[in-house]
Amino acid sequence: MKTQPFAPVKFLLVDDLEENLLVLEKLLERPELELLKARSGREALELLLKHEVALALIDVQMPEMDGFELAELMRGAERTRRVPVIFVTAGLREQHRIFEGYDAGAVDFLFKPIDARILRHKTQTFYELYRQRQELERVTNELADTLRFNETFVAAIGHDLRNPLNAVVMATDILERSAAGSSIQPLIQRIRSSSRRMAKMIDDLSDLTRARIGGGILIQRAPADLLAVCRKVVAELKTAAPDRSIEVESAGDLHGEWDAPRLEQVISNLIGNSIRHGDPARPVRLRLEGGHASEVCFRIENGGEVPAEILPHLFEPFRRGNGRREGLGLGLYIVSQIAIAHGGEITAHSENGTTRFELRLPRRDPNAPTA
Ligand SMILES: Nc1ncnc2c1ncn2[C@@H]1O[C@H](COP(=O)(O)OP(=O)(O)OP(=O)(O)O)[C@@H](O)[C@H]1O
Ligand SMILES: [Mg+2]
Repeated sequence: MKTQPFAPVKFLLVDDLEENLLVLEKLLERPELELLKARSGREALELLLKHEVALALIDVQMPEMDGFELAELMRGAERTRRVPVIFVTAGLREQHRIFEGYDAGAVDFLFKPIDARILRHKTQTFYELYRQRQELERVTNELADTLRFNETFVAAIGHDLRNPLNAVVMATDILERSAAGSSIQPLIQRIRSSSRRMAKMIDDLSDLTRARIGGGILIQRAPADLLAVCRKVVAELKTAAPDRSIEVESAGDLHGEWDAPRLEQVISNLIGNSIRHGDPARPVRLRLEGGHASEVCFRIENGGEVPAEILPHLFEPFRRGNGRREGLGLGLYIVSQIAIAHGGEITAHSENGTTRFELRLPRRDPNAPTA
C-alpha cells in the first residue's frame, strides 16, 4: 500500500558547457524528477552538501576539476560516498580510464553523442533503485514506530493492572482467613494461583519493555551461590507440582557475582518450562558444573520436544507452542536477556524426544576492571 507521496528524486547534472546541461535536462525532464545543474566540480560539491541525490551524471572533460577528480572527492566524503555516478565522455570507448575504487555497479559510462534511449534506460535503473530504498526506509521507520508505540502502551497497561490485582490478592488473604476449613477453600486457592500467574505476566511485560525500550535489563551483582538459588527454586516449584520428579546434580565451586533475584527468575522460568511443557512421565534433570575458573554452567533436561516451528525463534518474545497456553511466551526471551546482562549465554537443543537448555555464566563481570 502506497499512501505517502515521496519528495521528488534528485539527479545532479555536471557539465562546464551550458548547452550540454540543457540537452541532458531536455532528455531527462519529467515531473517526479528534480534536476540540479552544476557548471563545475566545485558547484557540484556545493549542491551535494545541500541535497541528497539519487544519481550524478558527470562530464569527464572539465577545466579545473575534471569528472574523475570530482568523483574521487565524492567517494572520500561519507555523505556522497554511495551516490552512483554516470560519467559522460566524448572519449573513445577503449580509451576511457577505468574509474577505480567505486563499487561495481555504482559507476557507468555514457558516450557522446548521447543516445536518448540509452540515457533514459540507464538513469531509470538508478531512479528505481533509489525509490525502492526510500520505500524500504519508510516501511522500516513505520514498523519501528508501531513497535515503540505498542511497547509503551504495554508498559502503561501493565503498570495500571498492578493496583487492582493487589486489591484482589489482599481480599483473597482476608477471605482465606475468614473461611478457614470451609468448602470454598479450593476456590480461594484458585483465585490465588490465578492472581499469581497474572502478576507474573505483568512482571514479564514490564521486563519486556525494560529490555526493549529501556536499553536492556539492568543487574546488580553481589556474591551469590548458584546451587543455593537452584535449591530454593526447586523447593518452591515442588510444592506447586509435588508429583513431578526434579533431580539436581552438582559439581565444583558454584559461587560467583550475580544478581541473585534475577538468577532465580532464570532458573524458575527454565524449571517451570520443563514442568509445564516437558513430558510428565520423565524426570527433570539439573546439572550444575563449577569446574571452570571463570564460569559456571547450568544444564536442564526434560522429556519432550519444543515444537519445530518455534525452535528457531525460541528466544524471541511472544513465541510459544500450542500446548498449554498459560503464559505469554515471554519466559525464554527474558531468560536470555538476563543471561546477556550477566555476560552469559543460553542455548537450546531439542531432538530425539529430549530438550536441553544450557546456560553459561561468567563468574564475574567480564567488563569490570580487574583489581
Ligand atoms: N523445557 C521445554 N520443553 C519443551 N518445550 C519447551 C520447553 N521450554 C519451552 N518450550 C516451548 O517453548 C515455548 C516458549 O517458551 P517460553 O518460556 O518463552 O514461553 P511460555 O512458557 O509459553 O510462556 P511464559 O514463559 O511467558 O509463561 C513454550 O510455549 C513451549 O512450547
Ligand atoms: Mg515459560
